[in-house]
Amino acid sequence: MKVHDKVVVVTGGANGIGRALCRRFAAEGARAVVVADIDHSAAADVAQEIGGLAIETDVSNESHVIRLVEQTIEAFGLIDLFCSNAGIFGVMGGAEVSDPDWQKIWSVNVMAHIYAARAVLPVMLTRGNGYLLQTASAAGLLTQVGAAPYSVTKHASIAFAEWLSITHGPSGIKVSCLCPQGVRTRMLLGEDGNRESFLREGALEPDDVAAAVIEGLDAERFLILPHPEVAEYFRRKAGDYERWLNGMRRLNAKVQAGMGS
Ligand SMILES: NC(=O)c1ccc[n+]([C@@H]2O[C@H](COP(=O)([O-])OP(=O)(O)OC[C@H]3O[C@@H](n4cnc5c(N)ncnc54)[C@H](O)[C@@H]3O)[C@@H](O)[C@H]2O)c1
Repeated sequence: MKVHDKVVVVTGGANGIGRALCRRFAAEGARAVVVADIDHSAAADVAQEIGGLAIETDVSNESHVIRLVEQTIEAFGLIDLFCSNAGIFGVMGGAEVSDPDWQKIWSVNVMAHIYAARAVLPVMLTRGNGYLLQTASAAGLLTQVGAAPYSVTKHASIAFAEWLSITHGPSGIKVSCLCPQGVRTRMLLGEDGNRESFLREGALEPDDVAAAVIEGLDAERFLILPHPEVAEYFRRKAGDYERWLNGMRRLNAKVQAGMGS
């Protein structure tokens, strides 16, 4: 799909990868770009810069997602491409992480995609045409060392995207799943830009991710991998799971020994 002349919604559009997507979609000549974010003032700045529309949205609240879809359709008549991109990293840890922390990341990283599909799919199915892009992560294909909530929710998000593609592909619904490794945004670098992480090495700029998305949408490819090496890691995992687990144990030990998350 070419983005030119399309009506596009981007959640988490106020910062990072989402902002880069909004800017790139506008540059590609989208008919409308809706910048949806919980941070309304930052979303309004992006919308003003690109001539888009900002709609304050907490994607973990279904009524907000319904309102986002309704207001977009009211303003522009349809939604061609819905980018369910907003996500959070949550807290480090595993089973000891509190229920409220698990619920919070589950709501943003998983339920938000379900709310989006629930709200937007019926109109897309009626038209027999529509595109859903979900931002997951390489952590959903592989893992996130040190952070079970992020790993688990990103795996779940990929599972949902796969299911949508299999179930609704024959009815004209396209689905892509964006799975980057490190990207130089607030999530990776922290508020002050100084957070340590082994993923800083090899991290891409958000604009590079947006370029990969344009190429992936054009090819209508399910898996969009801005870091091509992730495809090889994923193959190795599937080819020899035991060996992959051993390698990840070594990486985990190194990270725990002080290289940061
Ligand atoms: N940065 C990375 O290294 C990296 C790697 C792989 C995947 N991702 C994924 O990319 C997506 C975007 O992350 P980013 O790196 O641009 O992060 P970011 O923190 O720079 O931007 C995230 C945006 O989402 C918004 N947001 C957060 N919670 C929200 C909510 N409940 N409702 C609406 N908006 C909300 C924030 O206000 C922010 O504008 C996430 O899904 C993230 O998991 C990031």
